[in-house]
Amino acid sequence: MIISSATDYREAARRRLPPFLFQYIDGGSYAEQTMRRNISDLADIALRQRILKNVSALNTGTELFGRKLNIPAALAPVGLTGMYARRGEVQAARAAARKGIPFTLSTVSVCPIEEVQGRSPVPIWFQLYVLKDRGFMKNALERAKAAGITTLVFTVDMPTPGARYRDAHSGMSGPNAAIRRYVQAMTHPIWAWDVGVRGRPHDLGNISRYRGNPTKLEDYIGWLANNFDPSISWKDLEWIRDYWDGPMVIKGILDPKDAKDAVRFGADGIVVSNHGGRQLDGVLSSARALPPIAEAVKGELKILADSGIRSGLDIARMVAMGADAVLLGRAFVYALAAGGQKGVENLLDIMEKELRVAMTLTGASAISDLTSESLARLAPEFG
Ligand SMILES: Cc1cc2nc3c(=O)[nH]c(=O)nc-3n(C[C@H](O)[C@H](O)[C@H](O)COP(=O)(O)O)c2cc1C
Repeated sequence: MIISSATDYREAARRRLPPFLFQYIDGGSYAEQTMRRNISDLADIALRQRILKNVSALNTGTELFGRKLNIPAALAPVGLTGMYARRGEVQAARAAARKGIPFTLSTVSVCPIEEVQGRSPVPIWFQLYVLKDRGFMKNALERAKAAGITTLVFTVDMPTPGARYRDAHSGMSGPNAAIRRYVQAMTHPIWAWDVGVRGRPHDLGNISRYRGNPTKLEDYIGWLANNFDPSISWKDLEWIRDYWDGPMVIKGILDPKDAKDAVRFGADGIVVSNHGGRQLDGVLSSARALPPIAEAVKGELKILADSGIRSGLDIARMVAMGADAVLLGRAFVYALAAGGQKGVENLLDIMEKELRVAMTLTGASAISDLTSESLARLAPEFG
């Protein structure tokens, strides 16, 4: 099929993957209102066209935590990425490195830290969840450090998982899930051979290494449900800040008050995020949450934003609203599922071109030129 955008990659991923995996990626929590608004609210942000500004020396590059990025983006942590493409985390990390942006490895990845970092030419970022088993957290941090990782993304919006109705229907969970997954795999032979057979082992690499025995996909949902920790507070994070000497980014902030707490805590960055609409349905879209947060803490730490970003135009919108950079979630996962490392590289090329067009036509020569001045003020009735 012809691929010219992240939307095309979504369709290509839908065809390639067994439904239980496609629906797991594509879905959100409850009625999926927030997930839809992430996209529609972002699309409603009007860019301000400016002309004849001589943007011939256009530069999409920026700097984040001491590293130069080719575009103001990084790949978001996404669990089970090694189920969407063969050793998917390795492929995505290599694509990100080639395109000059960071890759973030999820706690619940298929490939363990050592495998991904060992096959990436540059340091990756590591994402950690707050889990009841503090021994696991400590072990993961030690291994990340030993592997040479310096940037830690700490996800705090999952003290308990939100319900995802699609998973029960698709075979990800629910009755006869294992049999249904098997039948789906058999009817998606390209995936079955490439990932199902050649992409083994299919366990949660980081957790298996810690526990000393494989943690299978079947254990995944149960393990997560039993291990998220609702008792967590800022105080509990202090040992991590003391332990981790590199940049620490808090992911899952939607409120200016929490952003200020993150500054007080000493975080180097935050990610304005509702987890792609996969946690509390009904909360603000990131596009709406970002501007007041930027007003509260801009310049005091780095502001990243995700949820709903599907194009280079969306990157320009988020930056113009105050983000220093964005995280790409589903967009890169669809490309990875459809085309592996090459697919992600191609998606990043597409997004860079889109960003260039957005900058050219808003009269921005550098990322720092994308400001609130790059947005059109709408009459209140368009609100
Ligand atoms: C399939 C899937 C798995 C995810 N797993 C994680 C995870 O393990 N850790 C985490 O911090 N965020 C996780 N996220 C959230 C992403 O990091 C990111 O916040 C979200 O995908 C952004 O929304 P978008 O996909 O609409 O762009 C996951 C998202 C998806 C779609």
